[in-house]
Amino acid sequence: MDQQPQSVLDYNGEDIHTIFLVWNFKENTEISSSFKAVCALLLNLNNSAYIRFPKRGVSNIMGIGYEAWKRLDLPKPLPKELANFEPIIGDPHTAVATRADLHFHIKGNTKSICYDMAAEISSLLTPVAECVVEVHGFRYWDGRSILGFVDGTENPNGEKERAYYGLIGKEDPAYQNGSYLFVQKYIHDLNAFKALPISEQEKVFGRSRDNDVEMPEDIKPKNAHIALTDVGDDLKIIRDNLPFGNMATNEMGTYFIAYASTFSTVKKMLDNMFIGDPPGNYDRLLDFSTAKTGSLFYVPTLDQLDDFSSDQEKDQDEKAAPNTVEEKETQPPDHTGSLKIGALKTYKKE
Ligand code: HEM
Repeated sequence: MDQQPQSVLDYNGEDIHTIFLVWNFKENTEISSSFKAVCALLLNLNNSAYIRFPKRGVSNIMGIGYEAWKRLDLPKPLPKELANFEPIIGDPHTAVATRADLHFHIKGNTKSICYDMAAEISSLLTPVAECVVEVHGFRYWDGRSILGFVDGTENPNGEKERAYYGLIGKEDPAYQNGSYLFVQKYIHDLNAFKALPISEQEKVFGRSRDNDVEMPEDIKPKNAHIALTDVGDDLKIIRDNLPFGNMATNEMGTYFIAYASTFSTVKKMLDNMFIGDPPGNYDRLLDFSTAKTGSLFYVPTLDQLDDFSSDQEKDQDEKAAPNTVEEKETQPPDHTGSLKIGALKTYKKE
């Protein structure tokens, strides 16, 4: 049977609340039992959400970073593109890279359910890890970023299209239906942006503010955000960005979050934004937005989470990865709850 993805293809509903969390494991600490417990908890929370709040978009998605994957001794070979995100140093803006072991994208129709899910995760992870990022994202009016422009319009639509762009396909059979997750926490210079006349703000994005209509090509500036992030009809990603705001710290921002079948598409967009296309023609949005974090993760399927949550001892003999795709494909599905370290199953994207 095909591997079931986590809820990466879900749309943000009209009553969306989100908590984004990044946790880093402590050094010199045994982490695997806590990790297993978190995987089991995640399955429990998601199953419970389907029963308690059907169709209300309550879910909890976990991504795993490269260093954590290695330290936890998860299957080899790794997902093909899972690596530490390297900073992209442009002139004058940089996409920083920050350490991140586990990422949680907690979604709910009320703040209460988000809080409860975050608290359950926290109680398991606190002894072995530190929470280094916590952002509470909310829906701002009709799906606008805190800068006032509708965010998400050109996202892939429909189940098939979203699966195509959001889930890993046949090119990496062992990880088919998993996803790459890339996140950045941006802080905006709202005063500077709001000081621009509306017509100038619109040139920053390449769309009208009130009606969210794309500018004609002959008017859209070459350094507009959408001119640089539209990298072709066959190269898309699923963006789930939400704004956040904190008056006490004066931090108003966007939590950029994207799920993709391949990280290379996200990287192309980032290169265009930070280095520029051609180099030097960088994204004007960056003059009002500073990336404070930047991290890449692999999002396992639900079936992989189930495998990772198992308590069974790892069988050292299973650690060597199968040599060929054919060899992997001939392995029967294992429902024993084994960690299947190295013994990767095949996953299929429709
Ligand atoms: C500073 C944080 C960001 C903000 C506030 C922001 C906001 C927006 C807005 C308002 C739009 C226009 C409506 C839409 O189609 O969604 C847009 C489009 C888009 N953004 Fe961003 N964005 C941010 C960062 C990024 C990053 C880091 C990437 C990629 C790595 C990205 C990729 C895209 C793409 C692919 C589009 C659609 C382009 C098109 O085909 O028209 N954005 N963004």
